[in-house]
Amino acid sequence: MRAWHTAGDGIDALESSEREVPVPGSTEVLVRIGALSLNYRDLLVIEGEGGWRPESSVVPISDAVGTVVAVGDRVTRFSEGDRALPVFLPFWRDGGLTAETYHSPVGGPVNRGMLADYVVVDEQEAVRPPSHLDDAGAATLPIAGLTAWHAVTRTAVGAGDTVLIHGTGGVALFAAQIAIAKGARVIITSSSPDKRSRAERLGVVAALDYRNEDVAARVSELTDGAGADVVIETIGGTNLNLSLEALRIGGRIAFIGLIEGLTAEVSTYMLVTKNATLHGIETGSRAMLEQLVEFTEEHELIPIIDSAYDLDDIRDALKHLKAGNHFGKIVLRA
Ligand SMILES: NC(=O)c1ccc[n+]([C@@H]2O[C@H](COP(=O)([O-])OP(=O)(O)OC[C@H]3O[C@@H](n4cnc5c(N)ncnc54)[C@H](OP(=O)(O)O)[C@@H]3O)[C@@H](O)[C@H]2O)c1
Repeated sequence: MRAWHTAGDGIDALESSEREVPVPGSTEVLVRIGALSLNYRDLLVIEGEGGWRPESSVVPISDAVGTVVAVGDRVTRFSEGDRALPVFLPFWRDGGLTAETYHSPVGGPVNRGMLADYVVVDEQEAVRPPSHLDDAGAATLPIAGLTAWHAVTRTAVGAGDTVLIHGTGGVALFAAQIAIAKGARVIITSSSPDKRSRAERLGVVAALDYRNEDVAARVSELTDGAGADVVIETIGGTNLNLSLEALRIGGRIAFIGLIEGLTAEVSTYMLVTKNATLHGIETGSRAMLEQLVEFTEEHELIPIIDSAYDLDDIRDALKHLKAGNHFGKIVLRA
């Protein structure tokens, strides 16, 4: 089989090599990879940014789905022929995130990733993908879909709520689809006229141009002066000030994004006077992924895929992600 590896030296230094197909241990399953999806963190690992740089060569890419082709003698959750969707944080099964469960994310810099023909995972580290989705669609769930699900459920988005979502990246579009399916009114932002008209076709109530419009003022107009009940903060950094400005008094914010940096000067005055609740969001647990699978099946949600590449074109796919002009997810078909 082939496996790709990176030491954090950039996209062009990503190499593949031939390896033995691994043999599953007694509680493990061997999965033949069917599709993968790309996330921004994959670039951070492959380009060796800060703490994401692997100390030694590692197989990158976090999100994938495949078919179980062999099982260990004590496996009970999966049988040969089942599809399996490995989770991103393998030890966060249920309940809140803890120091004991927050380690070894799949896809580097420490734990191995999915960019290989076959992987072994413990049977506890995977769930069944939604039955209505093909492998390309299902591969978008473990990070982007799950983070959006965690954000929307943690902020208790319900029917009639107005939800402001920044941008049209993978997490933002998933959050929009889930919030709309829950009966919320979604306002989305994008700098691109083309992406704004594509977002309108998803059923958002407004798609605003964050470069040329006063987003907080427009949200105020669209909510009769009240402001958004919930903001999904996919950008981060000082964009949090815009989110606070657009929020109604007593509103909730799901803070996800690192695009505008890891620190920021924020109006704590606005946080207080808006009587706001700010939730930091880290992907999600296996139980949350199972809830998302059920929700996507019930609402027949189809993840938005910008483009699909062959596995051999992994470098082109990563360069496309880096260029940042995608609408939804970039996937790889094995
Ligand atoms: N906390 C977690 O567990 C977790 C999980 C997944 C991702 N993340 C983080 O969440 C962020 C989003 O991830 P993603 O995968 O959805 O990213 P992505 O697909 O790369 O999307 C980025 C989008 O952000 C938009 N954008 C950039 N600056 C903006 C601004 N000032 N206002 C509004 N939109 C802006 C761009 O939209 P336009 O081109 O439309 O203008 C771009 O398409 C990243 O920082 C990622 O690292 C965190």
